[in-house]
Amino acid sequence: MKKTKDKNNDKEDSGFAPEILVFCCNWCSYAGADLAGVSRFQYPPNIRIVRVMCSGRVEPIFIIEAFERGIDGVLITGCHIGDCHYITGNEYTQERMAHMKPLLKSIGIDERRFDLHWISASEGKQFAELITKFTENITQLGPSPIPKKLGKIEIICE
Ligand code: FES
Repeated sequence: MKKTKDKNNDKEDSGFAPEILVFCCNWCSYAGADLAGVSRFQYPPNIRIVRVMCSGRVEPIFIIEAFERGIDGVLITGCHIGDCHYITGNEYTQERMAHMKPLLKSIGIDERRFDLHWISASEGKQFAELITKFTENITQLGPSPIPKKLGKIEIICE
């Protein structure tokens, strides 16, 4: 197997299968993910989807905690701007998450490990392409510098 070195943190990524958390909003991107499955669009099996009612439900602390537990990448997906089921939920997400990359960088996490994308319910193919590309990027970056403490993932919704 070919071994490559990560330019940023000198880690070998040979055989590395990243663990990626993907937040999907119930009304668009989750339906897009579902459509990708139904349409049999192939994408890497490295993701774990967390369905939330709106991308606006995802708080920055969820992302920090995911990284703190050793997750290799986090992706937030939601309805396109103007299509949010809750009107402005995704605009709120966009504003909030604009601060996420600098914040991650300031605590020593490569900001490329986090991203935000809009996927509609009819964009199954785009969902599969997004996951494929993001997984490739995270694989290139190599494992998270934070040791894994994943254990059993508990999701508590109020
Ligand atoms: S309901 Fe999809 S982003 Fe708000």
